[in-house]
Amino acid sequence: MATIEFVGVTKRFPGASQAAVDTVNLTVPDGSLCMLLGTSGSGKTTLLRMVNRLIEPTSGEIRIDGSPNTAQDQIALRRSIGYVIQQVGLFPHMTIAENVRVVPSIEGKSKQEVDPRVDELLSLVGLEPKEYRNRYPRQLSGGQQQRVGLARALAADPALLLMDEPFGALDAITRERLQDELRRIQRDVHKTIIFVTHDVQEALKLGDQLVVMSDGHIIQAGPPTELLLHPATPFVARLLGADNVVSLYEHVPVSTVMEPPNGYADGMRIAASAPVLQALVQLVQTNQPALAVEENGTVVGQITQASIYRQLRTPIETAQAATAKA
Ligand SMILES: Nc1ncnc2c1ncn2[C@@H]1O[C@H](COP(=O)(O)OP(=O)(O)O)[C@@H](O)[C@H]1O
Ligand SMILES: [Mg+2]
Repeated sequence: MATIEFVGVTKRFPGASQAAVDTVNLTVPDGSLCMLLGTSGSGKTTLLRMVNRLIEPTSGEIRIDGSPNTAQDQIALRRSIGYVIQQVGLFPHMTIAENVRVVPSIEGKSKQEVDPRVDELLSLVGLEPKEYRNRYPRQLSGGQQQRVGLARALAADPALLLMDEPFGALDAITRERLQDELRRIQRDVHKTIIFVTHDVQEALKLGDQLVVMSDGHIIQAGPPTELLLHPATPFVARLLGADNVVSLYEHVPVSTVMEPPNGYADGMRIAASAPVLQALVQLVQTNQPALAVEENGTVVGQITQASIYRQLRTPIETAQAATAKA
């Protein structure tokens, strides 16, 4: 279990005219994936590093399951939290298996005890253990090294994982593959993850919760769909590209734009959780007037091209107006 609460957290670096993080209040529920999104210098890394106390706040408190993170010794705290950064920092003279078991080894666990777990973790992150466990970091591609970094962070079985632009240095295809796998791993191992990114598509794709930061402040926090449909400020609208119709169609689920069922229950069906884009493609390709929306095998609504347009018109117009003004 790990619910993270930021309570009035502020960080002012010595000599800086402005706080890097300014009175942040935020709750990250247990088992959720929270994306910190913002332009460079907005305070994302500083906020993240205060969780495992690589940086100490000037004021405020961070609670993990209700206890302040200052309640335990810094080293013990850091070992209990997984941390993955862009420069993965594998030890070059150690094999992949040795790199993965480094924290359990420090904690006094024997090789025999840990080895099955190492293989399990390598498989989890998509590296065949037989092929990779005895290699050295230099014999791996950047994407593979990043996978090892993730396996290492998971080795101590932390309830909480902090990730700071972990896929930022990878090519687009590798990045997307690792994003998909992180989603799968998240479902399998049920960790609380705080993930820093400046990549909007990454944030929309991975997040249960999106936190938009600017100048050390949280501008808006909520589920991706909510931010896309109801951006709190022109800045959020512009950042998310909510005026980009394709982005709305890709990330807003059918359930948010459907209408009550009205006679199309026997027609073609689409899942309530499917993206609107999929519904649109299906409507156009099949020439159907409507699709029945189903959830757990029951028809809960219907969707037509007109209903998509009606429901998304307002957010699109609002965002376009915001962008035009800016
Ligand atoms: N160690 C530090 N000393 C002084 N200022 C810092 C330090 N680390 C970060 N800052 C400043 O704090 C602000 C937020 O930085 P950071 O948290 O790294 O932003 P982000 O991760 O969103 O790019 C920036 O203005 C940065 O220059
Ligand atoms: Mg940063």
